[in-house]
Amino acid sequence: MTNRRVPSAREKRIPFVDLAAQSRRLRPEIDRRIAAVLDHGRYVMGPEVEELESELGRLGGASAVAVSSGSDALLIALLALDIGRGEGRPEAVFVPSFTFTATAEVVLLAGAAPVFVDVREDDFLLDLDSLEQEFDRLMRSGSAVPRAVITVDLFGQPMPEHPLGEWAAARGLEVISDAAQSFGARLGGAPVGSLAKLTTTSFYPAKPLGGYGDGGAILGTEPAILEVVRSIREHGQSADRYDIVRLGTNGRLDTLQAAVLLAKLTIFEQELAARRAVAAGYTERLEAASTSMSAPWRVAAPVCGAGVESSWAQYTLRVDDRDGRPSASTRDALRGHLDRAGIPTAVYYPRPMHLQPAYEPYGRGPGSLPVSENLADRVVSLPMHPYLDESALDRICDRIATA
Ligand SMILES: Cc1ncc(COP(=O)(O)O)c(C=O)c1O
Repeated sequence: MTNRRVPSAREKRIPFVDLAAQSRRLRPEIDRRIAAVLDHGRYVMGPEVEELESELGRLGGASAVAVSSGSDALLIALLALDIGRGEGRPEAVFVPSFTFTATAEVVLLAGAAPVFVDVREDDFLLDLDSLEQEFDRLMRSGSAVPRAVITVDLFGQPMPEHPLGEWAAARGLEVISDAAQSFGARLGGAPVGSLAKLTTTSFYPAKPLGGYGDGGAILGTEPAILEVVRSIREHGQSADRYDIVRLGTNGRLDTLQAAVLLAKLTIFEQELAARRAVAAGYTERLEAASTSMSAPWRVAAPVCGAGVESSWAQYTLRVDDRDGRPSASTRDALRGHLDRAGIPTAVYYPRPMHLQPAYEPYGRGPGSLPVSENLADRVVSLPMHPYLDESALDRICDRIATA
């Protein structure tokens, strides 16, 4: 016996991300692009890669180098800035703890140590006060040379470059923007890609601009650094293929993925606008419902700073109990309540990086980054994709508002 309520046919399960609707819309263009690659047969570094780079650069307000994934983009960015293998002394890179594992793992792969920093509760972005505290602590301990800060545009919202840029420059630190989730977003009209010295992004299928497999890109405006990035992407070679001038890797994007992404770019701006409309629809409904809520939870809609046009990779709520107290069990009860009505949810991320077994030696244990720890218990992401219609939004928000 189970008390799980099966959603009626009218209430069929809402997709969390609807790649099928997108592929139905784009199928002829995708087929045409893939056929062109099969015809010319240049599966590695074919002409679509360069074409994609020029489109990405146009959208990102910078020059772009296509690479094999968002994780490789981060690793290559660190290597290009010569971060990780200091002469004799260990190096450190500041990363937010409330992020996907890739942001932290690349620091160790490059040879440096991650220093975890807390985030802000309302917009999930790096907390500059916490950064300053962690910087001072590192300087007092003298255990490593601070080299860089990786900021994360969590859920699609760009991290403002001011005042972080000035703060970092005054301390000789590089800033790398992990924009895996925010390609297509803007801040004060400036596109993600133009906001940091090096910006990295991901084309993982579920991202706002996603391929049919792994992919990523590095964006920047300094030709000399981008030259190094291109070299590292191909085993550290110079203009001569068998002249290896630095440590590199195979970080190339497949021509087929570039072809798929070029097809997807034809509707990317429309899809971003649709995501923004979905996010506005959620916020409007949830705010209207907040006064009438009979449910045992209270939800806070995501907060966007001034001038932010998010790419809305995720629409993430913070959940408290009826008395406004954070509680993982209340969040999980809400997830179950939605799931029984055919509404999938996800938790990004259930455990902050400083408490992950792989990174524990680099963190300061439970209680050290309280906002990240608290958010891990409270956040829940709702279905988010450009094909979510008004009736689905009504259904999801009604369900949240009534227990
Ligand atoms: C914040 C963040 N950084 C890095 C990555 C890594 O990207 P990829 O999966 O393309 O390697 C992701 C992907 O989910 C991410 O969300």
